Amino acid sequence: MAFTFFFRDAQTLRLAIEHLHPYIQSRSRISIWSAGCAMGQEPYTFAILLREIIGPYLFRNTRIYATDLDQYGNYGKIIEEGRYPVKDLERIPEDILARYFTIDPDNTTQCILSEEIRNTVEFNRHDLLSFEPIRSGLHLIICKNVLLHFSPEERMKVWMMFWNALEVGGFMLHEHTQKLPDELNGKFEQIVMNAQIFRKIG
Ligand SMILES: C[S@@+](CC[C@H](N)C(=O)[O-])C[C@H]1O[C@@H](n2cnc3c(N)ncnc32)[C@H](O)[C@@H]1O
Repeated sequence: MAFTFFFRDAQTLRLAIEHLHPYIQSRSRISIWSAGCAMGQEPYTFAILLREIIGPYLFRNTRIYATDLDQYGNYGKIIEEGRYPVKDLERIPEDILARYFTIDPDNTTQCILSEEIRNTVEFNRHDLLSFEPIRSGLHLIICKNVLLHFSPEERMKVWMMFWNALEVGGFMLHEHTQKLPDELNGKFEQIVMNAQIFRKIG
């Protein structure tokens, strides 16, 4: 099973949403790609924070496309059901936990995520090393703790794929340690110095 958890690096996700908000404010369709999403903790954390910050009306226009290599073919079911062990939810602030999760009446060791959040996230299997984007015109791509396993050449091809898939002005988000090479200076600009949040230019 992939290493991941709810509310991982929530501070950076919040920061990205604060920058994204004015850009998506007047859009009737907001498209986000969570690439290498594991069992859903990352796209669901992002969806919850987004719903908290942008409010229900704009959130209704949002679609989060969550993809993963999903080596054993079981992530789709986990994400669709949105059912997680209570012990995996410890990092979620209590008020948010109470708003978005309910105890599973059939198994009290598990919680079920609200339908509103589940309906916003769509899972598909996808191999980033196919270098084929899932769609174009995206407003944000989140790809955290995935590219570190790829070679420098593979990473460059993935970044070019992300660049092609984003709308001009769209955002890309990586984990803290994932730096972009200088060759991409004309393609992306880093918009926050202490976080790996970039914007498509050119
Ligand atoms: C360490 S987890 C990171 C999960 C989440 N992004 C996070 O930061 O918590 C890495 C994920 O990348 C996925 N992955 C690895 N290689 C991939 C590939 N070629 N295409 C798509 N996903 C891949 C793995 O299956 C795994 O779920």
